[in-house]
Parts: sequence; structure tokens; C-alpha cells
Amino acid sequence: MRVLVTGGAGYIGSHASLRLLEDGHEIISIDNLSRGHAQAEAVLAGIAGDRYTAVHCDLHETDRLTKLLLSHRVDVLMHFAALAEVGESVDHPLRYHYNNIAGTVSLLQAVDAAGTSRVVLSSSCSTYGEPEAGQIPISEDTPQNPISPYGDSKLQCERMLRDLAEAYRQADRPFSYVALRYFNVAGCDRQTRLGEDHRPETHLIPICLHTALGKRDKMAIFGTDYPTPDGTCIRDYVHVEDLADAHARAMGVLEPGDEQCYNVGIGKGFSVRECIESSKRVSGIDFQVDDAERRPGDPPELYADVSKIERDLGWKASITDIDETVESAWKWFKSHPDGWPED
Ligand code: UFG
Repeated sequence: MRVLVTGGAGYIGSHASLRLLEDGHEIISIDNLSRGHAQAEAVLAGIAGDRYTAVHCDLHETDRLTKLLLSHRVDVLMHFAALAEVGESVDHPLRYHYNNIAGTVSLLQAVDAAGTSRVVLSSSCSTYGEPEAGQIPISEDTPQNPISPYGDSKLQCERMLRDLAEAYRQADRPFSYVALRYFNVAGCDRQTRLGEDHRPETHLIPICLHTALGKRDKMAIFGTDYPTPDGTCIRDYVHVEDLADAHARAMGVLEPGDEQCYNVGIGKGFSVRECIESSKRVSGIDFQVDDAERRPGDPPELYADVSKIERDLGWKASITDIDETVESAWKWFKSHPDGWPED
């Protein structure tokens, strides 16, 4: 199939592109390179040759996007491009309204104009907000009450697709979409062709590994008094290659009229301390970790009920051992201590 991937130069978009290219699909990647890396595009172009096209284009360029969808006769849109930092979204909400919400409106206007009929959306478990204790593990039926502009922006994107699908149903136009609600995505391509490079880095496992590498003197645990067994927050860390597999499967089964959402996680949680211990074990390096205050907005415990995606798509995380996830990231960070080379 011909797949237009937005955010194809980013961490998840590039890994998903790699997987789809390996499956024989054709990728048209668009990225404005505000957070993505041209070097990731270069790697993918080197692997796939003329089955991969990278275009530097912004989500707000509706007409250009329409032309790309039409000229490449795109079968499926995969929409990864988004700002994705919860803390940043609280400090700079308009960035999230502009990029994630208005950007998706523009993209879907292009989809509408071009008649693209299948969409896979990167959504997030942050659309659930802070579920009550009885709602863990989180299923797709858990109420969506986001508590950050980031989580809210992803919920708005889901709603746009829902409304578009309803309008097309009335008009008898074929359309289908799936929203994949990611939990904490971690790890890197196990062949170290692609990796993770956020600037600034705020995610737990990369910060652990940067500290192991000595790029930071020490790191902090944000909160040690949570109502969890070791007092630190628990998250569901899904390997980025398994996440890419979920996209490949979701795309493969979309039939006209389908409207679906799936949680994508491993179905169990690891605490911050467990991730730190894993990072020390895998790297073989001890590093300084200080206890610190809670980070505002962190729910104590989030992990997924993944029975729906298992049942419908036959998808199940193949990597559930935190050391294996950390190991794949460690290989990347060790070989790319400064991330992707500057473009
Ligand atoms: N943490 C620390 N120290 C650090 C960094 C993180 O203790 O230096 C803690 C956080 O407080 C949190 C846990 O590690 O308890 C995980 O934090 P991350 O920042 O790695 O991930 P989040 O769970 O906050 O958010 C991530 C993505 C979001 C996504 C969300 C879904 O950044 O885009 O997962 O759960 F929505």
C-alpha cells in the first residue's frame, strides 16, 4: 500500500515507517523537522530507495498535503506528527492547540479534498487523564478525561475523525479510521538503525541512559511517596517495534466503515525505580539518583488492558521484559551519545 506518514522523521514515525518499508509498502513521509531528524529520513531512504519519499512540509499546508495525497495515490494516512510533551503542553498550551489540533484540522481538510479513505491516528493514554484506582488497568471504555492540553489535543483529534466518519456515513462515502492509544513508548530499533532523540529529553529511560553515559551528573526520581509498592510512579512501557507492529496490523484490517480505538501497551507496569535498576543492570554502570518532589500532573499508576487489541488484531507485545526494552535503547544511546548528528 501507499502510506503517507506525518511526522515520519520523528522517533515513532520513523520506526513505524521502517516496519512498513520492511513489509514492502511505499512511504511518503512528511515532516517539518521541528522535532524530527533529517538523518532518520536519510537512513530510511538508504534502506528503501525509491519506495521512500521524504517531503518537508507542515501540517498547516493544506493544499500541498492535498496534492501529495492525490499525486501519490495514497491508500492510508498515518498521522504521527504532533508535539508530545505533557509538561510543555501545560506551559505552552497554544503550541498544542496550533500544532496538534489546528494542524490535524488542516490535514483532515486535505484528506477530505483528496478522498483518502483510511486513517491511523497516534493517540495517547493521556486522553484518559487520571483514572481512579478501580479503573486500572485502563480499558478503552475508561472515560476519557484528559488533564493536560496534550491529552486534550489527542482527544480532539479522535473526535474529528469520529465526526468525519459520521458525516461520510450520512453521505455514503467510504471511510475508516483507527485511533491507537499509546502508553509509554520506549526502546529503539534492535538493529540500531534508528533511535530516540528528543531535545530537550524528558522521558525516563533516555534520561537514565544519558546519566549512565555521563552526559548528566545525576538524575532525579520525581516523587517517592506515591501509593505504589515502592512509592514511585508506575507506567506501561511498550517497545517501539511492537508499537510499529500494531500500526501495520491496524492498517491491514481497516475496512470501509470501521471506527476503532485500541490501547497499545504491554498490559503491566514498571515503577520508576524498576526502570532505573534496569538501566543500571543493562549498562553495567551505577549512577547517582536523587529523590525529588513529585512532578505536577503525574498520575501514580497507568497501565493498559490490552485484551481488545489482542482479540481484534491478534496483537500482543512481544517484548515485556523491561531489560530487553532498555537494552535496545542502550545500544542506540551508546552508539549515538549525542543523538542524531546535526542536520
Ligand atoms: N520521571 C522521573 N525522573 C525523570 C523523568 C521521568 O522520575 O527524570 C518519572 C515521571 O515523573 C513519570 C515516569 O518517570 O512518573 C515516566 O515519565 P515520562 O516523562 O518518561 O513519561 P510520561 O508517563 O510522563 O509521559 C509519556 C509521554 C507522553 C504520553 C505518556 C503516556 O511523554 O507523551 O507517556 O503515558 F502521553
